[in-house]
Amino acid sequence: MEAFTVTTTTEEETMQLGTRLGAILASGDVVLLTGDLGAGKTHFTGGIARALEIEDYITSPTFTVVNEYDGGRIPLIHFDIYRLGSYDELFEIGFEDYLERGGICVIEWADLIPEIEERAGRIFKIDIRRMDHVSPNHREITICLPEGERL
Ligand SMILES: Nc1ncnc2c1ncn2[C@@H]1O[C@H](COP(=O)(O)OP(=O)(O)OP(=O)(O)O)[C@@H](O)[C@H]1O
Ligand SMILES: [Mg+2]
Repeated sequence: MEAFTVTTTTEEETMQLGTRLGAILASGDVVLLTGDLGAGKTHFTGGIARALEIEDYITSPTFTVVNEYDGGRIPLIHFDIYRLGSYDELFEIGFEDYLERGGICVIEWADLIPEIEERAGRIFKIDIRRMDHVSPNHREITICLPEGERL
């Protein structure tokens, strides 16, 4: 996996990057999102949703853990695992069934449960860092694409 870093300075720019990524995603792909609280993981996911032609407004499934959007070209299955304690809990809500459903799974806070990476198929990793010492809207977004993909 090759990594590169992009800087954004607005919420919209982060969404646009998500849309560029969304354009190369295929059925069964998994996007692992990491980064601080309020970094922009949900807005990035909103950008992916645009590329999938999903018209819903994407909100963090912090309490529900998972939201599914079926109105676009490919289903978007959006997880926020911040409140989960273990892979077993994720399994209980049907994680492995979701992986097999032919949608695109986007997982906020993916690094909290390392087993996810072993279970998932083709993986895209996105890490969003706040740069508060530069400005409150500045983000550094590091993107790792699978072999052979480019944005
Ligand atoms: N360059 C930027 N990119 C993304 N969001 C930005 C940027 N600058 C400011 N913001 C603001 O940062 C916040 C990001 O919120 P968002 O819910 O997308 O983050 P999150 O990483 O999903 O948070 P959480 O950890 O709570 O799930 C929004 O209020 C957004 O307006
Ligand atoms: Mg979020």
